[in-house]
Amino acid sequence: MTMNSRLMLGYDLDKWNLWGVKEPISVDISPKTNSLISLNGMSGSGKSYMEHQLLARLILAEQRQKGEYYFADYKGDNSFSYLQSCSHFFTYKDSFTALDTVHARLLARQSGSDTTNNPVTLIWDEYMAAALNFISEDKKAAAVMMSKVSEILLLGRSLSVRLIVACQRPDALAFPAGSRLNYGVVCVLGAAVRSIYEMLLPDHMEQVKGRKFERGEGVVLLQGSELRFIKVPMVRDEERMRQICIKALGGPI
Ligand SMILES: Nc1ncnc2c1ncn2[C@@H]1O[C@H](COP(=O)(O)OP(=O)(O)OP(=O)(O)O)[C@@H](O)[C@H]1O
Ligand SMILES: [Mg+2]
Repeated sequence: MTMNSRLMLGYDLDKWNLWGVKEPISVDISPKTNSLISLNGMSGSGKSYMEHQLLARLILAEQRQKGEYYFADYKGDNSFSYLQSCSHFFTYKDSFTALDTVHARLLARQSGSDTTNNPVTLIWDEYMAAALNFISEDKKAAAVMMSKVSEILLLGRSLSVRLIVACQRPDALAFPAGSRLNYGVVCVLGAAVRSIYEMLLPDHMEQVKGRKFERGEGVVLLQGSELRFIKVPMVRDEERMRQICIKALGGPI
């Protein structure tokens, strides 16, 4: 395995705060390990900010494997508007087109009609809001959409298709067939209500008890077992991050 098969998520929060030491917390992103990522937290907790830097690092880490990326920005967040002209960037209801594209790829690989195996990643900002709005408009079509998400979560790993999802609270309702349990990385950022921890980290309540987190800080559960406190760093070179994302999302060079 090359060194590039790891994705840095952030730094150990306590070492950063107590001693100013930057100890990376990272996850294996090679196909043998589950690198489905769920980012959660209240509005303003830093989900999109973290997602943005994860995308840029993932792109760099998977350069050799010819990683492919699709970005669904349901809310039309200002921080992603520079990606507007990229062919793999989708906003609002077009988010569902991004899902359809990636899901079709999953099925084609599964059936053998697509023999590629490069990593394909769908990053979906505000998935839960998208799902809830869709449910209120068209319950049946929403169920089809959610079953696609669920299939990617359940089958994606063996077919090199990955999902990175950010939402405030990932209710089970939007993840049929228990698929919410399939994330290898679950992160809760910022000040969170107890019910989010109970929902996502039920076996680690003792460890989070009494802890307080600012924006860009929080808890990350790795492979359902290892709990770490995390600090998401400030981006040093925003322009470089943007250029990396533009290029990988099929934008004008
Ligand atoms: N780790 C961080 N370091 C420095 N600034 C940060 C960090 N995380 C977030 N911020 C700042 O806080 C703002 C809000 O963060 P962000 O948009 O990521 O929140 P969010 O959780 O996605 O909120 P929402 O649910 O409303 O979309 C960002 O625009 C950014 O300027
Ligand atoms: Mg956001």
